[in-house]
Amino acid sequence: MSATPRAAAGLPPMTTKRTIGESMAKRRIKTLFSAISSAIDGGARAAEQERRAEVAKLRFIEGRAVPRHIAVIMDGNGRWATERHMPRSMGHRAGVEALRRVVQLCDDYHVPMMSVYAFSTENWGRPQDEVDALMGLMWETIRSDVDRLHKNGVRLRHIGRLNGLAPDVQEAIQWMMDLTRENTKLQLNVCFNYGGRAEIVDAVRAIVASGVAPETIDEDMISRHLYTRDLPDPDLIIRTGGEMRLSNYLIWQAAYAEYYSSPRLWPDFDHDDFVAALDAFSARKRRFGKTDAQIAQEAQESQKLLPPTQTAQQATGQTVQTPQPYATDGAGATAEAEGSLSGSRAKTAVEGVH
Ligand code: FPP
Repeated sequence: MSATPRAAAGLPPMTTKRTIGESMAKRRIKTLFSAISSAIDGGARAAEQERRAEVAKLRFIEGRAVPRHIAVIMDGNGRWATERHMPRSMGHRAGVEALRRVVQLCDDYHVPMMSVYAFSTENWGRPQDEVDALMGLMWETIRSDVDRLHKNGVRLRHIGRLNGLAPDVQEAIQWMMDLTRENTKLQLNVCFNYGGRAEIVDAVRAIVASGVAPETIDEDMISRHLYTRDLPDPDLIIRTGGEMRLSNYLIWQAAYAEYYSSPRLWPDFDHDDFVAALDAFSARKRRFGKTDAQIAQEAQESQKLLPPTQTAQQATGQTVQTPQPYATDGAGATAEAEGSLSGSRAKTAVEGVH
């Protein structure tokens, strides 16, 4: 290509009004784009920082947030039985089978603690034959399942009032707790003759009886007087049967729990339902009533407490991608593996209570 006469003469190209206008417009567009992209970057950075901070509060396994403690309201036994023209007690019996399944699932999915609402203080108002059936089932299940649960490292705890239960039920509960006390693989808390308000009443009575000055009573003191004093609060509460109520279940401890309602009736609650609840938990955003800035600050502080060679990401196994759904296969195979807590071989073992 031949040079222009001005270029050949070593002169700069002629600048016209039009080219000046064009280059100003280009500059403006460039500035605008850069402002937009830094705003996007800034927003994305802030969002990512917020997400990481939230994540640092949770327990992560293979990139998924896993609850440390799941509390379950096993609802729908009566409807399940009625649909099949069976007595309600058969629904509760089928509910024990579902419980066996879910204990195994907790183990498969690395959930270290589960609490189940097996009999509430309000359940005394049910027809006497149903109350008797539930009491009998509790006793029977402890006798049939505790040995196996114990062998599999499950610790069983009773949460609720022992007073008011028949002596043989009390004895069975005490036995299962004593036997499994040292187990650490999984903890199953059986809330039996339990009511959240009754628990708070019991805590307040104990505090008042201790004679402390009213101004020294704070949330921490109340927590320390609950039946659950040494347990972590539930991270996730699952209620089956499609209902959306807490029904007096762990009402103090549930203050910051994620709530998940499953339409499935408890006796039908299976692997996929459990995984759906875990997926929902993993995808939730948790701020614990604080601002993003506070959460970010806390996460930073918690990272400072980690050993120098371990980042928060390494400690939590956290990855930055969107939580992946849980595998929906393979758990059955695990259940059949040696050491499995349930499965067909474990029919006689309702995994631990107390
Ligand atoms: C609520 O369903 C369930 C209960 C009141 C009892 C749950 C008990 C078990 C699953 C078995 C016992 C557990 C142990 C550990 C022995 P519902 O009867 O209110 O159901 P509905 O809403 O369909 O009537």
